[in-house]
Amino acid sequence: MSTTCYLANMLTTSLSPTVKLSDFVPQPTSLATLLFSILRTAFIMLVAENPILWMIQQRWLNPQLDMEGPFYVVGSPNRQIADGKAQIASISELKESTPFLFTFSVKDPKGDPIPNVRFQWWQANSGGSYYHASYKLRGHFTTDAEGNAEVMTVRPGVYGPEGHKRAGHAHITMKDSAGNFKTLTTQAYVCTANNPSDLHPDIVNYLRSPRFSNVVRAWSIPSASNGQPLLDLPELSEEDYDTMKKVDWWNTRLAESGCKMQIVGGGHMTYSMTPRTGFFGF
Ligand SMILES: [Fe+2]
Repeated sequence: MSTTCYLANMLTTSLSPTVKLSDFVPQPTSLATLLFSILRTAFIMLVAENPILWMIQQRWLNPQLDMEGPFYVVGSPNRQIADGKAQIASISELKESTPFLFTFSVKDPKGDPIPNVRFQWWQANSGGSYYHASYKLRGHFTTDAEGNAEVMTVRPGVYGPEGHKRAGHAHITMKDSAGNFKTLTTQAYVCTANNPSDLHPDIVNYLRSPRFSNVVRAWSIPSASNGQPLLDLPELSEEDYDTMKKVDWWNTRLAESGCKMQIVGGGHMTYSMTPRTGFFGF
């Protein structure tokens, strides 16, 4: 980063409003919530995500659509901490694992930003385990008016049966506030060295074609992890001033919140939502 950029970065950071990261304890989920979530998932998998329907339709679907899967739990909490910024993992979780920064842009098919898109988010921890007894690593938030979002969380881990493991991913469902676009249910994949071949063994490929367009453009900061690049990901370029500024903002908050860990990796994805057309907005 040039000296001018660095000074501008520091000035912007120092003028940012004070935002504290939270060491929240995720609320427990009730038995009624879990039962309702199971029934809802069964309905989704039988109807909206019926594998036969997917195989027939998938060539016409938005290529970024992906299956919701069985691990969604209704009623997750609001994790927004600032405009377009969300904290999914608590400070305790970030201390135990690797702070990972996802950044997103949501646009229409022409490339114009879609403002205030509401995200539902759920993911496994870095060991590949989902939590159901609480809303750990689950939450919702909204993008800013330019359709951008930043999510502080831990790296989602690989999971699944041997030989058919799923690449680490976050599940996302997004809806625009004006209701002009179809709901986009997707998964953001983090692949080793950004190599999409990590998606080949995915057990979900038996139900739908591999979602290569959902591999995030990921990066690492080796200096934050003993010189070792996370997942052999390329080092974040100092020329990527916009991302460097975001990393600095979050690292400042991590330090202020007593977390000695700094961001070791992250990734960016741009989503394109499909306009509602035809009768009844479908
Ligand atoms: Fe998953």
